[in-house]
Amino acid sequence: MSHADDHAGTRRDFLFYATAGAGTVAAGAAVWPLVNQMNPSADVRALSSIRVDVSGVNEGSQITVKWLGKPVFIRYRTAEEIEQGREVDLSQLVDPIARNANIQGEADATDENRTLDPEGQWLVMMGVCTHLGCVPLGDGAGDFGGWFCPCHGSHYDTAGRIRRGPAPQNLPVPVAEFADETTIVLG
Ligand code: FES
Repeated sequence: MSHADDHAGTRRDFLFYATAGAGTVAAGAAVWPLVNQMNPSADVRALSSIRVDVSGVNEGSQITVKWLGKPVFIRYRTAEEIEQGREVDLSQLVDPIARNANIQGEADATDENRTLDPEGQWLVMMGVCTHLGCVPLGDGAGDFGGWFCPCHGSHYDTAGRIRRGPAPQNLPVPVAEFADETTIVLG
Protein backbone atom coordinates (compact mmCIF):
# COMPACT_ATOMS: atom_id res chain seq x y z
CA MET A 1 0.00 0.00 0.00
CA SER A 2 1.35 3.39 -0.99
CA HIS A 3 1.48 6.34 1.29
CA ALA A 4 -1.18 8.11 -0.80
CA ASP A 5 -3.70 5.24 -0.38
CA ASP A 6 -3.00 5.10 3.27
CA HIS A 7 -3.72 8.78 3.60
CA ALA A 8 -7.00 8.56 1.63
CA GLY A 9 -8.18 5.73 3.84
CA THR A 10 -7.56 7.70 6.98
CA ARG A 11 -9.42 10.64 5.56
CA ARG A 12 -12.45 8.55 4.64
CA ASP A 13 -12.48 7.04 8.11
CA PHE A 14 -12.33 10.45 9.63
CA LEU A 15 -15.27 11.68 7.53
CA PHE A 16 -17.27 8.60 8.41
CA TYR A 17 -16.74 9.02 12.14
CA ALA A 18 -17.38 12.74 12.01
CA THR A 19 -20.71 12.17 10.26
CA ALA A 20 -21.74 9.43 12.66
CA GLY A 21 -20.87 11.68 15.55
CA ALA A 22 -22.98 14.55 14.23
CA GLY A 23 -25.91 12.16 13.77
CA THR A 24 -25.70 11.08 17.37
CA VAL A 25 -25.71 14.64 18.61
CA ALA A 26 -28.75 15.53 16.48
CA ALA A 27 -30.71 12.51 17.71
CA GLY A 28 -29.83 13.37 21.28
CA ALA A 29 -31.11 16.89 20.87
CA ALA A 30 -34.39 15.68 19.37
CA VAL A 31 -35.00 13.22 22.17
CA TRP A 32 -34.29 15.59 25.04
CA PRO A 33 -37.50 17.70 24.99
CA LEU A 34 -39.61 14.53 25.02
CA VAL A 35 -37.77 13.07 28.00
CA ASN A 36 -37.98 16.45 29.66
CA GLN A 37 -41.75 16.60 29.21
CA MET A 38 -42.26 13.09 30.51
CA ASN A 39 -40.46 13.86 33.74
CA PRO A 40 -41.62 17.29 34.84
CA SER A 41 -39.81 18.33 37.96
CA ALA A 42 -41.74 19.18 41.11
CA ASP A 43 -41.45 22.93 40.58
CA VAL A 44 -42.77 22.66 37.00
CA ARG A 45 -45.76 20.61 38.23
CA ALA A 46 -46.50 23.13 40.96
CA LEU A 47 -46.37 26.01 38.46
CA SER A 48 -48.87 24.36 36.13
CA SER A 49 -51.64 25.31 38.56
CA ILE A 50 -51.75 28.68 40.30
CA ARG A 51 -54.16 30.44 42.66
CA VAL A 52 -54.99 34.06 41.95
CA ASP A 53 -56.45 36.36 44.60
CA VAL A 54 -59.03 38.52 42.80
CA SER A 55 -60.39 40.28 45.92
CA GLY A 56 -58.69 43.51 44.78
CA VAL A 57 -60.15 43.47 41.27
CA ASN A 58 -63.01 45.93 41.00
CA GLU A 59 -65.89 45.90 38.57
CA GLY A 60 -64.72 47.34 35.27
CA SER A 61 -61.07 46.49 35.79
CA GLN A 62 -58.71 43.65 35.07
CA ILE A 63 -55.43 42.14 36.09
CA THR A 64 -52.87 40.28 34.06
CA VAL A 65 -51.10 37.35 35.69
CA LYS A 66 -48.32 35.24 34.28
CA TRP A 67 -49.12 31.57 33.98
CA LEU A 68 -46.92 28.97 32.30
CA GLY A 69 -44.88 31.85 30.92
CA LYS A 70 -47.87 33.54 29.27
CA PRO A 71 -50.09 36.45 30.26
CA VAL A 72 -53.62 35.64 31.41
CA PHE A 73 -56.26 38.38 31.55
CA ILE A 74 -58.73 38.25 34.41
CA ARG A 75 -61.49 40.80 34.01
CA TYR A 76 -64.40 41.73 36.23
CA ARG A 77 -66.87 42.92 33.60
CA THR A 78 -69.41 45.69 34.02
CA ALA A 79 -73.14 45.13 33.41
CA GLU A 80 -72.74 47.06 30.17
CA GLU A 81 -69.94 44.81 28.94
CA ILE A 82 -71.99 41.72 29.76
CA GLU A 83 -74.99 43.12 27.92
CA GLN A 84 -72.85 44.07 24.93
CA GLY A 85 -71.37 40.57 24.82
CA ARG A 86 -74.75 38.87 25.11
CA GLU A 87 -76.60 40.84 22.49
CA VAL A 88 -74.19 39.89 19.69
CA ASP A 89 -75.81 37.73 17.05
CA LEU A 90 -73.63 34.64 16.54
CA SER A 91 -73.78 35.13 12.77
CA GLN A 92 -71.66 38.26 13.24
CA LEU A 93 -68.78 36.31 14.74
CA VAL A 94 -65.57 35.61 12.83
CA ASP A 95 -64.88 32.53 14.97
CA PRO A 96 -68.11 30.79 16.05
CA ILE A 97 -66.38 28.40 18.48
CA ALA A 98 -66.25 29.11 22.23
CA ARG A 99 -62.53 28.16 22.60
CA ASN A 100 -63.18 27.48 26.26
CA ALA A 101 -61.02 24.72 27.78
CA ASN A 102 -63.61 24.27 30.53
CA ILE A 103 -66.24 23.07 28.05
CA GLN A 104 -65.95 19.58 26.59
CA GLY A 105 -66.23 19.44 22.82
CA GLU A 106 -67.03 22.33 20.51
CA ALA A 107 -69.47 24.85 21.95
CA ASP A 108 -70.86 28.00 20.33
CA ALA A 109 -69.03 31.22 21.09
CA THR A 110 -71.92 32.71 23.05
CA ASP A 111 -71.01 35.19 25.76
CA GLU A 112 -72.26 32.67 28.35
CA ASN A 113 -69.92 29.99 27.03
CA ARG A 114 -66.89 32.22 27.48
CA THR A 115 -67.23 33.40 31.08
CA LEU A 116 -66.23 31.75 34.33
CA ASP A 117 -69.47 32.37 36.24
CA PRO A 118 -73.06 32.04 34.99
CA GLU A 119 -73.69 35.75 35.68
CA GLY A 120 -70.94 36.56 33.19
CA GLN A 121 -69.01 38.92 35.44
CA TRP A 122 -65.68 37.13 35.25
CA LEU A 123 -63.82 36.60 32.01
CA VAL A 124 -60.50 34.73 32.07
CA MET A 125 -58.51 34.44 28.85
CA MET A 126 -55.01 33.89 27.59
CA GLY A 127 -53.62 37.34 26.79
CA VAL A 128 -52.08 36.19 23.55
CA CYS A 129 -53.37 37.42 20.19
CA THR A 130 -54.35 34.48 18.00
CA HIS A 131 -52.73 36.12 14.99
CA LEU A 132 -49.02 36.15 15.80
CA GLY A 133 -48.96 36.15 19.58
CA CYS A 134 -48.75 39.81 20.67
CA VAL A 135 -50.35 40.83 23.95
CA PRO A 136 -53.54 42.79 23.18
CA LEU A 137 -54.44 46.00 25.01
CA GLY A 138 -57.49 45.82 27.27
CA ASP A 139 -59.84 48.01 29.28
CA GLY A 140 -62.29 48.62 26.50
CA ALA A 141 -59.71 48.99 23.72
CA GLY A 142 -60.61 48.60 20.06
CA ASP A 143 -63.80 49.15 18.11
CA PHE A 144 -65.78 46.50 20.01
CA GLY A 145 -65.13 47.69 23.56
CA GLY A 146 -62.92 44.77 24.57
CA TRP A 147 -59.32 44.26 23.53
CA PHE A 148 -57.19 45.55 20.70
CA CYS A 149 -53.98 44.10 19.32
CA PRO A 150 -51.95 46.95 17.87
CA CYS A 151 -49.47 44.67 16.10
CA HIS A 152 -51.67 44.26 13.02
CA GLY A 153 -55.01 45.66 14.16
CA SER A 154 -57.13 42.84 15.62
CA HIS A 155 -60.26 43.91 17.50
CA TYR A 156 -61.79 41.65 20.17
CA ASP A 157 -65.17 42.26 21.80
CA THR A 158 -66.13 42.33 25.49
CA ALA A 159 -66.13 38.51 25.54
CA GLY A 160 -62.68 38.33 23.92
CA ARG A 161 -64.08 37.18 20.60
CA ILE A 162 -62.29 38.26 17.44
CA ARG A 163 -64.46 40.67 15.47
CA ARG A 164 -62.15 42.37 13.00
CA GLY A 165 -58.55 42.14 11.83
CA PRO A 166 -56.21 39.29 10.91
CA ALA A 167 -56.53 37.18 14.08
CA PRO A 168 -58.39 33.97 13.18
CA GLN A 169 -59.67 32.86 16.57
CA ASN A 170 -61.21 34.11 19.81
CA LEU A 171 -58.80 34.56 22.72
CA PRO A 172 -58.64 31.12 24.34
CA VAL A 173 -60.16 30.55 27.76
CA PRO A 174 -57.85 28.38 29.88
CA VAL A 175 -58.83 25.76 32.44
CA ALA A 176 -59.96 27.86 35.40
CA GLU A 177 -62.41 27.81 38.30
CA PHE A 178 -63.32 29.63 41.47
CA ALA A 179 -61.79 27.89 44.50
CA ASP A 180 -63.70 30.29 46.73
CA GLU A 181 -65.36 33.68 46.31
CA THR A 182 -62.13 35.58 45.81
CA THR A 183 -59.72 32.97 44.46
CA ILE A 184 -59.45 31.77 40.88
CA VAL A 185 -57.36 28.67 40.19
CA LEU A 186 -55.73 28.46 36.77
CA GLY A 187 -54.82 25.03 35.46
S1 FES B 1 -50.34 39.64 16.52
FE1 FES B 1 -52.21 40.56 17.03
S2 FES B 1 -52.89 41.36 15.17
FE2 FES B 1 -51.06 40.37 14.61
